Amino acid sequence: MDRCYSPCLLLCSILFSLSFNHSYVVSSNLCASSNGAGRRILLRNDLGLTPPMGWNSWNHFHCQINEKIIRETADALVSSGLAKLGYQYVNIDDCWGESSRDYKGNLVANRTTFPSGIKALADYVHSKGLKLGIYADSGYRTCTGKMPGSIGHEKQDATTFASWGIDYLKYDNCYNDDTRPTIRYKAMSNALQETGRPIFFSICEWGDMHPALWGANLGNSWRTTDDISDSWDRMLKVADLNEVYADYAKPGGWNDPDMLEVGNGGMKYSEYVVHFSIWAISKAPLLLGCDVRNLSNETLQIISNEEVIAVNQDPLGVQAKKVRMEGEREIWAGPLSGDRIVVLLENRKPWSSKMTAHWDDIGFNSTNTVVEARDIWEHTTLATRVQGKLTANVEARACKMFVLTPLTN
Ligand SMILES: *[C@@H]1O[C@H](CO)[C@@H](O)[C@H](O)[C@H]1NC(C)=O
Ligand SMILES: *[C@@H]1O[C@H](CO)[C@@H](O)[C@H](O)[C@H]1NC(C)=O
Ligand SMILES: *[C@@H]1O[C@H](CO)[C@@H](O)[C@H](O)[C@H]1NC(C)=O
Ligand SMILES: *[C@@H]1O[C@H](CO)[C@@H](O)[C@H](O)[C@H]1NC(C)=O
Repeated sequence: MDRCYSPCLLLCSILFSLSFNHSYVVSSNLCASSNGAGRRILLRNDLGLTPPMGWNSWNHFHCQINEKIIRETADALVSSGLAKLGYQYVNIDDCWGESSRDYKGNLVANRTTFPSGIKALADYVHSKGLKLGIYADSGYRTCTGKMPGSIGHEKQDATTFASWGIDYLKYDNCYNDDTRPTIRYKAMSNALQETGRPIFFSICEWGDMHPALWGANLGNSWRTTDDISDSWDRMLKVADLNEVYADYAKPGGWNDPDMLEVGNGGMKYSEYVVHFSIWAISKAPLLLGCDVRNLSNETLQIISNEEVIAVNQDPLGVQAKKVRMEGEREIWAGPLSGDRIVVLLENRKPWSSKMTAHWDDIGFNSTNTVVEARDIWEHTTLATRVQGKLTANVEARACKMFVLTPLTN
């Protein structure tokens, strides 16, 4: 009951009666339930109704961050046009603070690298129409070991973050004392809610204890895997681990296979297109991990593809799944609003290959569904209507992504 104040109960009842037409006893237990399975929509802070979009400092900068980089990144998100496309969170990762708390026990920003303090930075980022995110840890130290962790200080730290104007918290899992993550993450989740400020809560538990099963009650997203790296093999590995939990993603709570590496240089153009496509179709957070102050044309073209972003941000909020695998050739598909289906033909092989998406696999009626097929990387609509199956040639380590719209006549 602690997490379920009356507006939430009311919303839950409304949503439940909308999504279940059989009788269902709506009680506080539904809101407070620790069972996150099914298509339950547990709106707790009204955030994350679509996957979050923005940027995070870690993948490119690691600990080499300062307030100038954060400000310039906010500027670049606006000047590049990315902010308008939805990239709104500017998230500072580990290494933003001093090694110890102050005499009152508060976390403090690094006096050398963030001399103006986090509140001033939040004010600046907000003045650009963007939101500021920060990083903390559910153990005794952050993952680099450089900053204090928040275990036992949840209320104090949540209060600090809210007072600074923080909009997003990534909460890591290092140096914990084996206290169950459900307890550690619940403590911060409650503390954030008690501040009264809507703060997106990103559970970074690395998938260790299946956070997909309990994350929706506590946070707006949960990491399903260990860290990504800027390599083709590792990117596919975390994508595959994340796909297993597809049924648990829903508006308000998303599976998180980690931040994007697009633009960091470790993959080829077509491989980054696959990376961005899988994240989009998986309803993953689209958190850029490159230096947005210095984007190549190719990188900008990938991350600003409005049709692919629209798949990620589709209001239906259903994560796509692998519907057919033939070795390293995979068909992924998922429903979109308006009875549409998005399909990804993903060729992991080092040579090109003809690939087919069959209606029976992707969820259309194979005898009578005729569709218009839109290639959302080429930005072209196929001239002929398609029925039963869609076949395309897919280059080596590349993909094709189509939005299929059923035609009624
Ligand atoms: C604060 O920043 C300075 C300058 O980069 C760095 O030498 C120091 O290690 C940082 N402190 C912590 C706790 O990371
Ligand atoms: C900008 O990116 C290019 C590669 O795209 C790189 O060679 C260059 O060093 C970068 N500049 C800065 C200031 O990081
Ligand atoms: C990017 O494209 C613009 C034109 O669209 C061109 O003027 C510019 O030279 C290109 N920059 C790079 C780094 O290729
Ligand atoms: C597919 O459409 C045909 C023709 O309208 C219909 O007879 C059949 O029942 C449909 N199949 C499914 C699985 O809905």
